[in-house]
Amino acid sequence: MPMIAREEEFKEILQKRLSTPRYIHSLNVAQTARELAIKYGADPEKAYTAGLLHDILKDDEKSAQREYLERNGVILTGSERLAPKLWHAMGAQIYLKQQLGIEDAEILSAVRWHTTARAGMSVLEKVLYIADFISADRVYDGVERMREKAAQSLETAMLEGLQFTIIELANAERTIHPDTLAAYNETVYINETSKRSVRQ
Ligand SMILES: [Fe+2]
Ligand SMILES: [Fe+2]
Repeated sequence: MPMIAREEEFKEILQKRLSTPRYIHSLNVAQTARELAIKYGADPEKAYTAGLLHDILKDDEKSAQREYLERNGVILTGSERLAPKLWHAMGAQIYLKQQLGIEDAEILSAVRWHTTARAGMSVLEKVLYIADFISADRVYDGVERMREKAAQSLETAMLEGLQFTIIELANAERTIHPDTLAAYNETVYINETSKRSVRQ
């Protein structure tokens, strides 16, 4: 199993920044992302690194997360201001670049889009998005179904994950980020098109 060169350094930083459950979650997501990357043809080491670091800011106070974004010139849209859960992903992209010196655009964008998703996602971005749903520590209702979908195809798992997120947000009367809706619409289209091509 290839090891990322800076794995130990990253783990030390994470242990300082994260609660124990969140640290364990990060290790699990890294492992699952690596497995999904091998299965679906993304770079396993990049997937592992992105998985390891994706929640690096998540245990910071929300006010600190927001300040960090503002300090770095990020202007939040209306729906982003109403969705503090998104801030750690937006901030992590900047933190990885500035504090950890990670330049790899694929890793940075996988981390950036792991909460909202977006249209036109790379395989690595999808791998991290799904790994975050099905890592070993996840226990929510429907996780087994999600794991089955992830074993079938990346696109059906994306559809399941986006449906889950949108329904949960709508039920809680929370805003749904336009990028999430764009990801959902595109995923429905991709799944429909692939069903049609199988039928022909
Ligand atoms: Fe996250
Ligand atoms: Fe996560």
